Amino acid sequence: MIDAIGRPQSVLVLGGSSEIAQAIVAGLVPARCKTVVLAGRPSERLDAAAAAALAAGATTAEVVAYDTTDIAGTPAVIDAAFDTFGDIDIVVAAAGALGDQAALEADPLAAADLITTNFTGLAAGLLAVAGRMRRQGHGRIVVISSVAGDRARKANYIYGSTKSGLDAFAQGLGDSLVGSGVGVTIVRPGFVKGRMTEGMDAAPFSTTPDAVASDVIGAIASGANVVYSPGILRWVFAVMKLLPRAIWRRMPA
Ligand SMILES: NC(=O)c1ccc[n+]([C@@H]2O[C@H](COP(=O)([O-])OP(=O)(O)OC[C@H]3O[C@@H](n4cnc5c(N)ncnc54)[C@H](OP(=O)(O)O)[C@@H]3O)[C@@H](O)[C@H]2O)c1
Repeated sequence: MIDAIGRPQSVLVLGGSSEIAQAIVAGLVPARCKTVVLAGRPSERLDAAAAAALAAGATTAEVVAYDTTDIAGTPAVIDAAFDTFGDIDIVVAAAGALGDQAALEADPLAAADLITTNFTGLAAGLLAVAGRMRRQGHGRIVVISSVAGDRARKANYIYGSTKSGLDAFAQGLGDSLVGSGVGVTIVRPGFVKGRMTEGMDAAPFSTTPDAVASDVIGAIASGANVVYSPGILRWVFAVMKLLPRAIWRRMPA
């Protein structure tokens, strides 16, 4: 339950081993968020994330098996989390994969799998979360989108389209929840140096999981609907979206 001065006391992460999500949890726990539920594919990384939350001061840090591509199993995972841990103040939807564009173009089934991972499956989870949060009458859903969804780029349009879909879904979800006590914050990071981008050349205005987490925690506190991370990308992409297609399609990989 959110405390008297508005600080969340529980968080459920969909994609619990995500570096960005772990940084968000590391920021929330010292501010009295003592219950941490990490839903993800079972792995040492997921277990280590739970151990890190406990070490940071969480009183409960549990892992829950969750795979975004198991759509049929998703509502039960979400219901079990809310039934077991009580009110959940914050849900962070962080699961996602970048994929290799050339490989995905050559393998339509792999591309469909990525789309399910990043969008279809996650959307099903978010609807289940929204239903539970509506019933409890409060909470905030944080959806990690990407600037890649602001305008699909030739070099990564498959990933970009998943983020466009997820982002549009989250915008509509947020509007549908107005008046319910539940809010949605959409996070649009740029290039984040970490596991997902390992070995890639950093894009301009690249950032870190910690810096994104700091922006997310600020957005949770203020109840912002949309946050770019870093903030300057809001203006960069406002311009990018206006570029003629003939120029945009020449954008480097
Ligand atoms: N890194 C960037 O530059 C960047 C920029 C903009 C937006 N984002 C978005 O930020 C979010 C977090 O990314 P990150 O940077 O923290 O990278 P990350 O550490 O690689 O996190 C990705 C997370 O997604 C999980 N995941 C992948 N497929 C899944 C599936 N089928 N079911 C459940 N979980 C699954 C991974 O779990 P496993 O450990 O099981 O693989 C991992 O927890 C992603 O949605 C990403 O698209 C990242």
